[in-house]
Amino acid sequence: MLLEFLLAFLGVLSLAVPVHGQDQSGFVSIDCGSLSAQFLDPFTGLNYISDDSFIQGENPGIPKMIAIDEFKNTFVLPQHKYLRSFPGVEGDRNCYNVTLTKYVKYLIRATFLYGNYDNLNEPPSFDLHLGPNKWDTVQLWNSAALVYKEIIYIPTVTYIQVCLVQTGRSTPFISTLELRPLKNTTYVTQNGSLALIRRSNCGFLNYAIIRYPDDDYDRLWYPDHIWNSNLSTLQAIDSRDYNDFRPPSTVMMTADTSINASTDLNINTHQTTPQFYYVYMYFAEIDLKANQSRHFNISVNGEPWYGPVTPEYLRATIAYTNSPIGPFTGGNFTFSFFPVGDSTLPPILNAVEAYSVIYFLQSETDQEDIDAIKKIKSRYGISTRNWQGDPCAPQDYVWNGLSCSYNGTAPPIITSLNLSSNGLTGGIAPDIANLKSLMSLDLSNNSLSGTVPGFLSQLLSLKILNLSGNNLSGSIPVDLLKRNASGSLLLSVSGNPGLCLSDSCNNKKKKKKLVVSVAASVSSLFAIVILLAIIFRVHKRRKQQVARHGEDKTRRTPLLELKRRQFTYSEVVNITNNFERVLGRGGFGTVYYGCLDDLQVAVKMLSSSSVQGYNEFQAEVKLLLRVHHRNLTSLIGYCNENDKIGLIYEYMANGNLKDHLSDGNPNILSWKQRLQIALEAAQGLEYLHKGCKAPVVHRDVKTTNILLNDKFQAKISDFGLSRTFQSEAASHVSTVVAGTPGYLDPEYYATHRLTEKSDVFSFGVVLLEMITSQPVIAMTNDRTHISQWVNSLLKNGDIENIIDSRLGGDFKINSVWKAVELAMACASTTSATRPTMNQVVVELNECLTTEMAPTGGFNSSFEIIAVDDNLLSEVSGR
Ligand SMILES: *[C@@H]1O[C@H](CO)[C@@H](O)[C@H](O)[C@H]1NC(C)=O
Ligand SMILES: *[C@@H]1O[C@H](CO)[C@@H](O)[C@H](O)[C@H]1NC(C)=O
Ligand SMILES: *[C@@H]1O[C@H](CO)[C@@H](O)[C@H](O)[C@H]1NC(C)=O
Ligand SMILES: *[C@@H]1O[C@H](CO)[C@@H](O)[C@H](O)[C@H]1NC(C)=O
Repeated sequence: MLLEFLLAFLGVLSLAVPVHGQDQSGFVSIDCGSLSAQFLDPFTGLNYISDDSFIQGENPGIPKMIAIDEFKNTFVLPQHKYLRSFPGVEGDRNCYNVTLTKYVKYLIRATFLYGNYDNLNEPPSFDLHLGPNKWDTVQLWNSAALVYKEIIYIPTVTYIQVCLVQTGRSTPFISTLELRPLKNTTYVTQNGSLALIRRSNCGFLNYAIIRYPDDDYDRLWYPDHIWNSNLSTLQAIDSRDYNDFRPPSTVMMTADTSINASTDLNINTHQTTPQFYYVYMYFAEIDLKANQSRHFNISVNGEPWYGPVTPEYLRATIAYTNSPIGPFTGGNFTFSFFPVGDSTLPPILNAVEAYSVIYFLQSETDQEDIDAIKKIKSRYGISTRNWQGDPCAPQDYVWNGLSCSYNGTAPPIITSLNLSSNGLTGGIAPDIANLKSLMSLDLSNNSLSGTVPGFLSQLLSLKILNLSGNNLSGSIPVDLLKRNASGSLLLSVSGNPGLCLSDSCNNKKKKKKLVVSVAASVSSLFAIVILLAIIFRVHKRRKQQVARHGEDKTRRTPLLELKRRQFTYSEVVNITNNFERVLGRGGFGTVYYGCLDDLQVAVKMLSSSSVQGYNEFQAEVKLLLRVHHRNLTSLIGYCNENDKIGLIYEYMANGNLKDHLSDGNPNILSWKQRLQIALEAAQGLEYLHKGCKAPVVHRDVKTTNILLNDKFQAKISDFGLSRTFQSEAASHVSTVVAGTPGYLDPEYYATHRLTEKSDVFSFGVVLLEMITSQPVIAMTNDRTHISQWVNSLLKNGDIENIIDSRLGGDFKINSVWKAVELAMACASTTSATRPTMNQVVVELNECLTTEMAPTGGFNSSFEIIAVDDNLLSEVSGR
C-alpha cells in the first residue's frame, strides 16, 4: 500500500506545460502550509489553493517549509515545498474537511515530503484516517522520500475528512491533498475502496512521472522497467475505451517486452495480512511487422486470469476482472504471461495498476447527532482540542466529553455529553434536544443562564441531568421533576441561585391559568370590563405604532393573516407540551396531540430525513391554504423553522375510518353512520374536484385518510400527494404514478394520465370496504381485490354475504343494494364508466334517504357549503 518515489528520480520531470484546456472541473488541489492563497503549478497547469479553510479543528497546525538548502540541487514541485505540521501528543487527531459531491467516485491523494523541515532529521511516522476509518500508516524513511497515499473512494456524505493521527512521538504533517473525480464506470469493485499499490508506466523514455494534463484524471504514472526490453513508438495511441479508463497516450506509447517467450510480473504489496486485489493492465501494439503476431494468456499465481490478449495496433486494450483476486497471503503475487497459438512475438505490457481492497467498516456517526453536536460546538465555541473529525468514530478518538453507543457497522449514536467546567455561557442550546439518545447530560460548573428549557424533557432516554453550578433561573419543567421524583432521572440543579426548586412554582402558574379561564367562561361583567380595557389598550398602542410608521398597516390584513398561521418551533413545543402524546407515526414523521389555547390540534412533525415528506409538506400547505370545506381537514397553521417542519391541523378525536371498520374495534359503526360518513367524504372529494378554481385530485383516497371528529363527522385528510390541474382546459395531467396499492386506479397506473376519476375509483374501494369490512387486498395467496370478491358474490345475488356480518341485519336491503351498485360503478376498471363525485353525492343521499325513510323526520343538511372565493383569496394572499 505504501507508494513511494525517490526525489532523485524526479530530476528530469516532464516539462510539457499544458496547453490542452482539458476539463479539470471538480479537481480540488490543496497545498498544505502554503503561504499564498493560491498559485498555478506551472508543470500541471493546476490551480493549488491554501489549506487554511479546510482545517477543521482548533489546532491550526504550523505552516512549514522543507530545508530548502539541502534540496537546492533536487527538483521539488512547488506544492511539495510547503507542508503543515500538527505538533501534539499521542492520540491527537487533526482533520481536513473537504466538501464534495456524494456518490461520485473520487481519487483522493495525500502527499508527504518530510524534507527535514524541522531540522531534526527524524522522518516521522503516523496514521492517516479517512473519516471514521483508518486508511493507512504513513512511514517516511528519509528526508527526500516522497510518499503518496492514493485511494479510490465513493463518499456517502457530502464531505470527506482526511485526518492525521499522531501514533507515537513524531509529529504528523501533510504536503498536499488532492481530489479528482472519476467516472463511476471506472474501477468498479464489488464492494470496498481501492488503495493504490502500484501504477507503472512500462518502458518509459525518461524518468518523468506522467500525470495531468496527459492524464485526464491526474493519475500519477511512474516510470518502471519490469522486463528486459522496451519498445516505444512516436505515434499517438487511441486511448478511448468503453469504460472510460482513458490511459494517457504518452503512457501507452511505450511498453515493456521480454526477450524470453514467457515472462513474469511480480507484485509486491508489503502487506502482511491476506487481502483482495484489483489489477488493471493496459496493452497497445506498437511494434508489429507484416508477418508477425502477438497473442498471450495471463495467469496469476498459476490460475488463469485473462486471455488471450491480442494488443490492437496503436489502440488501447484494458484487461481486468470484475471480481477481485486473492486473498493472497505473504504480500506478493505473480502474474505470468504466456504466448499462445501462432504468436511470433513475446508478450508486452504498456502499463499496469494494482490496488488492494480496503473495507471501511465503521460508519460515520448518526447524521442527526453530527449536525446537533456541531451546532453545539459552534454555539459554545468549544475549544477542546480533539473536537474534530467524526464525533464517535473511530472509537479510540471519540470527542472528549462524549460517549457513544456502537452497534456493529451501524452509525454510532451519542449517548452522553459532558461539558462540565467548560466556561459555557448563554442559554442551554436547543440543539441538545436533537441528541435523541442522550442518557447523560452534564452541564455543571459553567455560567449558563436563562431558564431550564422544556425541550430537555424530550430526551426520553435521559437518566442523568446535571445543571448544578450555573446561573439558571425560573422553574424546572414539571416533566423533569416528575421523572426525578419517580427515580427514572437523576437531576442535579444545586448552585443555581435564581432557580425555583419546588414544583410549587409550576402549580402557581397553573392555578392562575385556571382562574383566568373560569373567569372568562362565566363571562362575568368584571371579565368583560377587563377584556375591553385590554382591547382598548392594544388598539391604542397599535394606533400609535401606525402613526409612528406613518402608514396604515391594517390594509395588509391578508398577509398578517398568513403570518399568524406560521408558528415558531418553540410555540410548537408549547402547543404539544413537549411532544407529549403521540397520535400516530408514518414515513413522513410523527403526529402529536396538542392544544392551541382552547382548541385541540394534531401536529404532524416532519422527520428531517424525509425528502419525500418535505415535498408533500409543501404540496399540502399550498393546497390547504387555498381550499376550505367542512369535509376536508383544515390546516390551522404550520411551522417551518430551519429543519423543523410541522403542520397543525384540527384535532380529529375519533381517528381514522379504517380503525372503526377493523375487526378489532368493538364499537361497530351502524349502516346509517357508514352512509353518513361516506356521503361526507364524497362531499369533500366533490369539492376538491369541482368546488376549487383549479380542480384538485387527491390521489390517495383511502380509509386511513378519512378522519372522524368527536361528532363522527368525516373529513378527508393528507393532501401530500394531491395534484392541481394547472389550466381549466387540461382534462388530465401526466404524473409519476402515486397512491396506495388496492386503491390505485388501474387505468391511471397503466397510462399515467391522472384525472378526477382516479379518486372516484379509490372512493369506490373505500365504499366497498365500508360495506363489507373486508381487506382491500385479500390476505390469501391469490390476493383477490375487494372489487373482484364482491363481484363474484354479486353474480349470485348474494348480498347477505357481501355486507359486514357484524351489522346483524340492521339495514334496509334496498339502500345496501344501491350502495353496492354505486361502489362497483366507482371501482370500474375503465374511468369512462365511473360516475363523477357529484353523481356519487346524489346517489349516496338517496341511499341515506332510503335508509332513514320509515322513521320519518329526516332533515337533509347535506347541501355543500358554498365557498366564498373572496375569502379564499384573502387567506391565501392572492
Ligand atoms: C518475416 O520475418 C522474418 C524474420 O523473422 C524474415 O526473415 C522474413 O523474411 C519475413 N517475411 C516473411 C514473408 O516471412
Ligand atoms: C463530567 O466530567 C467531569 C470531569 O471533567 C466529571 O467529574 C463528571 O463526573 C462527569 N460527569 C458525568 C455525568 O460523568
Ligand atoms: C469549575 O470550573 C472551573 C473552570 O471553569 C474550574 O477551575 C473549577 O475547578 C471547576 N470546579 C469544579 C468543582 O469542578
Ligand atoms: C446571573 O444572572 C442574573 C440575571 O438573571 C445576573 O444579574 C447575574 O449577574 C448573573 N450572575 C452571574 C454570577 O453571572
